[in-house]
Amino acid sequence: MKFFIDTANLDQIKEAQDLGVLDGVTTNPSLMAKEGITGEQNVLNHYKAICAIVDDNVSAEVISTTYEEMIREGEALAALDPKIVVKIPMIKDGVKAIKYLTSKGIRTNCTLIFSPGQALLAAKAGASYVSPFLGRLDDISTDGLQLIEDIRIIFDNYQYKTEILAASIRGPLHIVNCAKIGADVITGPLSAITALLKHPLTDTGLAQFLADHKKAAEAAK
Ligand code: E4P
Repeated sequence: MKFFIDTANLDQIKEAQDLGVLDGVTTNPSLMAKEGITGEQNVLNHYKAICAIVDDNVSAEVISTTYEEMIREGEALAALDPKIVVKIPMIKDGVKAIKYLTSKGIRTNCTLIFSPGQALLAAKAGASYVSPFLGRLDDISTDGLQLIEDIRIIFDNYQYKTEILAASIRGPLHIVNCAKIGADVITGPLSAITALLKHPLTDTGLAQFLADHKKAAEAAK
């Protein structure tokens, strides 16, 4: 399973990269705005800065919504760095743009997926990734994990190469449940990834090991 971090914050991306388990980054216009990144050139420079930190898979989202504009924006983003994956919303022109960009060898991530049918369309258009938003479905009392299970079945039925990128992850249990049902990738905040480290028995067990070691070393003096 691949781990992506869902942020545009360079410090958090560096921290996740340093942990040695990071496979990529996803951003969106809201995450860029949260970091105060505005203006076309600043946005492009920020993507370049992210690409300089990680090994691959930097999802950069278009902000236009027409086919022609998405193509123009997508090609400009892809030209920044080979690590860029162009993130395209699940709308009619988006599907057409995914088809076009794929034919040009540009990787795409179809975002804002909330139904199996949307995922199927994106896969048929050749998307490299589909991003079902697990947490946002859970937020409205709908089973987000069920959506990911349904997409897994559909993609396996037809051997689609499109990877399922479970997005809108809220915590460590989401990550574990996604791994159990075969999502190819998760993207979440740094806090969800580092929460996987934690177990109270690990902490008490380690404290006991170190105390026993110290006691034995003192007794041997
Ligand atoms: C996906 O790529 C999105 O950036 C993201 O996961 C949205 O998550 P949110 O529901 O926490 O905003």
